[in-house]
Amino acid sequence: MTGINRIVILTGAGISAESGIDTFRSAGGLWEQHRVEDVATPEGFARDPDLVLGFYDIRREALAKVEPNPAHRALARLEAEFAGELLLVTQNVDDLHERGGSSRVLHMHGELKSALCLACDMRSAWDAPMAHHPPCPVCRSPSLRPDVVWFGEMPYQMERIYTALTATDLFVSIGTSGAVYPAAGFVQEARMAGAHTLELNLEPSEGSHFFTESRHGPAGRLVPEWVDELLGG
Ligand code: OAD
Repeated sequence: MTGINRIVILTGAGISAESGIDTFRSAGGLWEQHRVEDVATPEGFARDPDLVLGFYDIRREALAKVEPNPAHRALARLEAEFAGELLLVTQNVDDLHERGGSSRVLHMHGELKSALCLACDMRSAWDAPMAHHPPCPVCRSPSLRPDVVWFGEMPYQMERIYTALTATDLFVSIGTSGAVYPAAGFVQEARMAGAHTLELNLEPSEGSHFFTESRHGPAGRLVPEWVDELLGG
């Protein structure tokens, strides 16, 4: 592809599906097993902090049992070899992009391996359970919560993302259902700014019609193919 100097990529749960992490909205997905209001809202946390801390402890522990797949690795290769500007934004709270070799990942919905202290507002790298209310590494208050963005909260670094979207040549959405805003609106933002927009997803998503091009199939195949094509084989 010629004339592509800036790329913004958005990934969602579908890119980690082939690694063995449940997506949210598929049959048997996380939101069929748990109520969003209970485990992914500030109100749910206020009502039953132990339930919420335990839910994220299980998800954090599960990361140790999964590995990045060819889609994560292909995006790391793109970061290493693409000569232009690349912004990789993920809605995922797992660390598979990093373990696949990407070094600059913007986690707009936060990270399982990060803790946010409700007493001092500091974020700390975290790879242990939280259900027993351990002290914050910074202020020692037992006030940690998972550093993940819940419904009703503002995703991280939105200004930086919108700035990149309005200047990008290409926007690529990978493995996301297009059901959750603001991420679901990125395609329209990029398109209004004149970018080519490409969807790589297992099936047509809720926002497929917004994209100039859609390819359907597993990310583990589509993403390496697309990266090969972009980098010229
Ligand atoms: P979803 O579960 O809503 O959507 C996952 C998408 O990935 C679906 O469109 C699937 O068809 C697709 N998919 C599944 N397997 C795939 C594969 N092997 N290859 C490619 N695509 C595949 O997950 P997200 O769109 O990431 O937010 O969900 C967005 C947000 O909703 C999440 O970040 C989370 C959730 O509620 C918060 O918790 C704030």
